[in-house]
Amino acid sequence: MFRTQTCGELRIADINKEVTLAGWVQTVRKFGSITFVDLRDRYGITQLLFSEALNDQLDASPLGREFVLQITGKVHERSNKNKNIPTGDIEILVDHFSVLNKSITPPFTIQDDTDGGDDLRMKYRFLDLRRNAVKKNLELRYAVNRATRDYLHQQGFMDIETPFLIKSTPEGARDFVVPSRMNPGEFYALPQSPQTFKQLLMVSGYDRYYQIVKCFRDEDLRADRQPEFTQIDCEMAFVKQEDILAMFEGLIKYIFKTVKGIEYTEPVARMSWEDAMWQYGNDKPDTRFGMQLLNMKAPAHVFAQKDRSAALVDGAGFGVFDDAETVLAIAVPGCSEYTRKQTDELTEWVKRPQIGMKGLVFIKYNADGSFKSSVDKFYNEDRLKAIAEAAQAKPGDLILILAGTEERTRKAISELRLEMGKRLGMRKDDEFKLLWVLDFPLFEYDEEGNRWVARHHPFTSPKPSDIDTMIGNNPVIENAATYLSHPYANIKANAYDMVLNGNEIGGGSIRIYQKELQQKMFEALGMDAEEQQHKFGFLLGAFEYGAPPHGGIAFGLDRTCAILGGSESIRDFIAFPKNNSGRDIMLDAPATIDNKQLDELQIKIDLK
Ligand code: AMO
Repeated sequence: MFRTQTCGELRIADINKEVTLAGWVQTVRKFGSITFVDLRDRYGITQLLFSEALNDQLDASPLGREFVLQITGKVHERSNKNKNIPTGDIEILVDHFSVLNKSITPPFTIQDDTDGGDDLRMKYRFLDLRRNAVKKNLELRYAVNRATRDYLHQQGFMDIETPFLIKSTPEGARDFVVPSRMNPGEFYALPQSPQTFKQLLMVSGYDRYYQIVKCFRDEDLRADRQPEFTQIDCEMAFVKQEDILAMFEGLIKYIFKTVKGIEYTEPVARMSWEDAMWQYGNDKPDTRFGMQLLNMKAPAHVFAQKDRSAALVDGAGFGVFDDAETVLAIAVPGCSEYTRKQTDELTEWVKRPQIGMKGLVFIKYNADGSFKSSVDKFYNEDRLKAIAEAAQAKPGDLILILAGTEERTRKAISELRLEMGKRLGMRKDDEFKLLWVLDFPLFEYDEEGNRWVARHHPFTSPKPSDIDTMIGNNPVIENAATYLSHPYANIKANAYDMVLNGNEIGGGSIRIYQKELQQKMFEALGMDAEEQQHKFGFLLGAFEYGAPPHGGIAFGLDRTCAILGGSESIRDFIAFPKNNSGRDIMLDAPATIDNKQLDELQIKIDLK
């Protein structure tokens, strides 16, 4: 037998047992005539004691870090116990050892606090994976994976694989393409998601489908995006939106319970997309803390659509506010005593190119009820008080105000809110707040093309009450300046996102299942009949053979794991991730290919 126990298994109750262990040498410490070795495997670390009797053998065959070692010996109680590790009460008095394989010196220490930088650890990812910190992340991922399969199996879902070599699936990113040797000049696209296949499976009658599946998207990468990532992809037939929300609220709560031991008993909160945008500045609000936005001034269409607070700032002669399209504020709790240096630093923060604002206005609502602001010249105490009240500020708060164009200001205040929440410790890794964001617009306006694009994807159904508007109107936008008054601008989708602590962890929708409505949708997106047939003829065809009402959702597995594990980066939860330029540093991919391969594919490279 190679080993009788693992390196994480032995306890005080095992004293005097004869054991054989195998693992990697973590450390070697020599004290006079005896040598201590920490032996590590996936399960833990066990201390080995080599007595003087083995010295000659150790001299002949010295041990080094990461050597693979097999030992036989007896379990002893340690005199100097280590309370930090589960095996810390015991050690093994070694009788025999054999070096199963040597290791050259690793480029960084294989410890929790390693000395290796990101790039080095990516290059030697197989060594980084030996570290406890990374291993714990992969264990969490496996636990999420298992909980998902358990729950969906219990609910009667069937795991069905779908192909990777396919035709373009529109999820809003660029496709990765693969040339076909057997069909020269033609390319497969890798799926951005199995969207159309899961819909076809509904037509085929597999009314509860799931798959834990790789998706491929050629898009700009960030901490929460990888070019290949994994979705928990699900679809159900004969369901309404409420059925889907209930089923997948159930899934995420089951994952919380089994993986984190958290009983998330309250129903997942719900918010409309429009409220999310105006109360938090984005469609994935972090609801672990308040600090909601005060909308002091907004473009006419916003006021027309919803009765927000009246314009609080106009007419005081302060050009920055008077001329701005939008003025938005947050009340930061307990920060009225910020110094000049601190407010200057915040001003610099909003001026950074990533945020892109010209400046920051602040009002200190002092603890004694008085006000001090950077705009005292324009606003008297009464007006400052009115603003403070509207922002629901309390004495002791610092009101921060940004002004500019609608989209930019909203984005900036949303970032500022998150930053202040972080600085004030309101975004705790061990607190979890789920949220459904609902009632998304079906379309987004594309300025460049002066046309509609799908906000989610083109298979998303409008709300039933909006179907007539969609069918009965011409989607063409005659006048770009007045696109907001086009009937399509107000069509809402039966789409939903699940948000966890300010991250979109899942998204889905009820689908279109009638051919005519699907054609109208494609038409609205600027596809003529020929293009529709070329790209999606298979789906339109399938809809002619009794497609049932259906809908679904996909969760980002990597993202969900990262948040549950308290990390900002999904890379930490992927065994072999790519870096931010989409490169696998370990493999050195992507790479050029042989001329022979290019010839077989009949491809000539002519880089521009
Ligand atoms: P969507 O495009 O919203 O929906 O994707 C679903 C979820 O996948 C995760 N995600 C990503 N994770 C890591 N890296 C990426 N590049 C990346 N892109 C997306 C997010 C997101 O919420 N077919 C639809 C689902 C449906 O309608 O059923 C879809 O793919 O967490």
